[in-house]
Amino acid sequence: MEIEQLLILVKPDGIKKSLTGNILTKLSESRMVIIGAKIVKVSRDLAEAHYCHLKDKLFFNELLDYIRGKIYGEPWDRVLAFVYQGEDAVSRMRKIAGATNPEEADHVSIRGSYGRITTKGVYENVIHCSSDPSEAAREIKLWFKPEEIVKEIYPVKKIVV
Ligand code: TYD
Repeated sequence: MEIEQLLILVKPDGIKKSLTGNILTKLSESRMVIIGAKIVKVSRDLAEAHYCHLKDKLFFNELLDYIRGKIYGEPWDRVLAFVYQGEDAVSRMRKIAGATNPEEADHVSIRGSYGRITTKGVYENVIHCSSDPSEAAREIKLWFKPEEIVKEIYPVKKIVV
């Protein structure tokens, strides 16, 4: 199994609904380690870069307002960003996160438990989880500076949890 890293965001709706603890508890079932963590007020540039693969979608502007917390305002207009590392991390975390559409997500997954669809049709799915290892690498570089990632914990296998 490959050791992988991925980006997790607790989105503004997750913060507003006080779900950070619940979400981190579910993610901790993976036994992966956190190697980066911070709170971010998301700029329009960062939101556009993060979701560049969706720029042609009709819901793109609503999506940018959502990830920036614009639809909730202060003090919910921020995200919590984490880099997790572990064996087969991306596919295992995607399973815990659940399907993109909260109504199609497994009801024990994070999105299935806590997500909903807004009146404008955007999925308020409380968490972002990188979709594959190359996308994860791109996103981690976008959200974190190299010095913000704790590298001394390598190799993961030597950590006794
Ligand atoms: P996407 O990158 O396709 O999915 P994922 O977040 O599971 O990797 O979409 C990014 C976000 O855009 C998604 O979390 C919620 C929103 N979205 C919608 O609101 N409606 C849609 O039809 C799609 C595809 C995405």
